[in-house]
Amino acid sequence: MRGLIRAALASAGLGMVAIAVIARWPIAESRDLPAPDGDAYRGAYLARSAGCVACHTNTAAGGAALAGGKALTTPFGSFVPPNITADPVHGIGDMTFAEFAAALRQGVRPDGKAYYPAFPYEFYADFSDQDIADLWAAIRTVPSIAEPAPAHDVRFPFNMRWGLKLWRAAYMKPADISPVLGKSDAWIRGQELVRGAAHCAACHTGRNIFGGLKDSEALAGSDSLPEGETAPSIRPEALKTNGWTVANLTYALKTSVMPNGDVFGGSMAEVVQTGTAFLDEGDREAIATYLLDPPEATRTASGAGASKNSAAVELAGDPVAETNEN
Ligand code: HEC
Ligand code: HEC
Repeated sequence: MRGLIRAALASAGLGMVAIAVIARWPIAESRDLPAPDGDAYRGAYLARSAGCVACHTNTAAGGAALAGGKALTTPFGSFVPPNITADPVHGIGDMTFAEFAAALRQGVRPDGKAYYPAFPYEFYADFSDQDIADLWAAIRTVPSIAEPAPAHDVRFPFNMRWGLKLWRAAYMKPADISPVLGKSDAWIRGQELVRGAAHCAACHTGRNIFGGLKDSEALAGSDSLPEGETAPSIRPEALKTNGWTVANLTYALKTSVMPNGDVFGGSMAEVVQTGTAFLDEGDREAIATYLLDPPEATRTASGAGASKNSAAVELAGDPVAETNEN
């Protein structure tokens, strides 16, 4: 099926009838989903580890938390992470909990159309109902901002959202976090973060011309990041060659300081400043432990919950300074 859809995507021969059928093809699993009680602290932690804050806040321009992010410029056009504060008009205040869950786990909009994969919902597919409820609660602690984020500026034919249904069918992968015997708790937690919430593969795995992640090149680096940026390989061999150890990678995920004394630049600096610097030391170490010792070629999507016993993490503000370095 995937092969067929990919072939269809690759050929330009879709007739109008096929287009009409695809445009009406329902993709959301309809599911009655009452909102469970959310824990805003746990949700804020997850919003940090999953990059929601990083993308949906225009930190560089001094924008308010979650009120809309910096445009992501790609070969398909430029995508602006929208305002996801609880404002009912310009934010997501009028979404139901079930619609919010469908957005995050399935990439489906309230009107049944698909979201662009610039919103990395592939990696959130395995979030539990509780994870979603916690995020929902956390978002409601942030001041509502009654201003829209700028619209996307996407080129034809990518501006036609029906095509995204094909994209989802061809490239969106179900969760892939398998228990591995003989691995430590840290390793298992690291797998959950790297493959799921923290979506390291979104930037470190190459993409094909349709923006689908290349399975065979998992974490081997990518030259198709927004703004023409490139991300190096973070496979274990490459990391070891560049002098990375569990200790110095754990440290870099807090400080951006690399083993050669240089600091991360570009979007990796933002990943640290707006995301991993806020995590528990244990979670940073888990990411490093997993990356330096994965089971085999690492693919991507799956769910990861927030740390169960983490301290509260603010959605806005600077990372909490810690005193004991390693
Ligand atoms: C890499 C950047 C990025 C990250 C990380 C990200 N988003 Fe988004 N998000 C986007 C973009 C871009 C869109 C718009 C997609 C579209 O219009 O098709 C979006 C759309 C959304 C929407 C739909 C809003 C609407 O008005 O329909 C919600 C809800 C959302 N994101 C929540 C989240 C949450 C919660 C997280 C963290 C778990 C998150 N996002 C992480 C970029 C991101
Ligand atoms: C938004 C895109 C993006 C995401 C998400 C991302 N990275 Fe990066 N990463 C980059 C870029 C770009 C660089 C190159 C930075 C530079 O040139 O200074 C980089 C560099 C690195 C390096 C340095 C490798 C070397 O040897 O030079 C490591 C390690 C790293 N990233 C780990 C991670 C981990 C772990 C995650 C997930 C928690 C992650 N990255 C998520 C974009 C990203």
